[in-house]
Amino acid sequence: MESPTRRCVCPGSFDPVTNGHLDVIERATTLFDEVVVAVLHNPAKQGTFPVQRRLELIEEALADDVRARVRTVAFADRLLVDVCRELEAGAIVKGLRGGTDFAYELPMARMNKHLTGVETVFLAGDPALEHVSSSLVKEVHRYGGDITGLVPDGVLAALREDGPRV
Ligand code: PNS
Repeated sequence: MESPTRRCVCPGSFDPVTNGHLDVIERATTLFDEVVVAVLHNPAKQGTFPVQRRLELIEEALADDVRARVRTVAFADRLLVDVCRELEAGAIVKGLRGGTDFAYELPMARMNKHLTGVETVFLAGDPALEHVSSSLVKEVHRYGGDITGLVPDGVLAALREDGPRV
């Protein structure tokens, strides 16, 4: 009998995706058969990039072998546990840049476990990308700083074209 697909969800706002996110997504594909990158958003809040553009920027940035194991899907106004249930995903995968991330993530991991039993797997973030977040790269770029190497090329181009609304 075939074993069931081991599927995880990598959730986030991804506004926009950074090289830190990509590192976690790529590493998740080595642990699970399928990784669903879930772009969770609140339609009442305008982000920097429209949700469809966030999805495109993630997909464009994935290497071909990684993309083969990744699905990218948007969800509006949903609990993460309900998204996991709908996708039949047994685990949530998140990266931790440091202690502040851990303090923020731990109660959410416990709450999600409490709600449906879904597990959260934390991956130790690449220390070279510890300072990278979507909000910081947008701010640095907006004021003329160089964010090369911190975001995929497509994101850099998109920020140059559209200009972020920080
Ligand atoms: O990229 P972000 O903004 O750090 O992602 C946070 C996100 C979207 C993963 C988190 O806010 C979330 O899980 N939102 C979905 C709503 C939900 O389930 N809230 C209860 C968490 S215990």
